Amino acid sequence: MGRDDRNRNAAISETLSEIRDILSGGVTVDRLDRAKSALLRLCGRTDLFNFDIYPLPSVGGIESTYFIHCDPDGTNALYVSCARPGMSYRPHNHGGSWAIIGGVQGRESHRMFTETGDAAAPIDQRATLMVHPGHAVSMMPDGIHAIAVEGDEPILNLHLYGSRFENQQERSEFDEATGERFVFRLENVGEIVDCR
Ligand SMILES: [Fe+2]
Repeated sequence: MGRDDRNRNAAISETLSEIRDILSGGVTVDRLDRAKSALLRLCGRTDLFNFDIYPLPSVGGIESTYFIHCDPDGTNALYVSCARPGMSYRPHNHGGSWAIIGGVQGRESHRMFTETGDAAAPIDQRATLMVHPGHAVSMMPDGIHAIAVEGDEPILNLHLYGSRFENQQERSEFDEATGERFVFRLENVGEIVDCR
């Protein structure tokens, strides 16, 4: 393990220790907001998180995901997400897991939705937020978002989830035009490189 790897692991460990403390009393909007600030400090370490270390896919590919940490019980799962312009996902939840997405490089829009309880129009868009350097979004376990890379630059973001992908419950995604609900297939995320 090189010095950069040790520095990165130390920074991740420090951040997650802070976030575990913040969320130890239970997950609330306010506590996720404080955890967001902690993750954003880690996002600011562009010496540890950049395209040299976490490269974009080769030409033709659109997205690369790197799994860089989770606690032994599968909680506090941290991923690096890199994507080119053109990457987008329709509205989806995260299978009962809270999520924080913090910007390291580029701009990614997050349209935030809530579930309405109405089968004919199950989701309602409430806000559009931008993830870019210094800015993050957080979502409660029932949160729904649709994301897209904005502009001409690729993005590199940190995604922290309450549970690693494999431990999340079944995820749903939605067709915005028809309101139809589908099972979100993890395979659609593409290759996830385990860098732990
Ligand atoms: Fe998502």
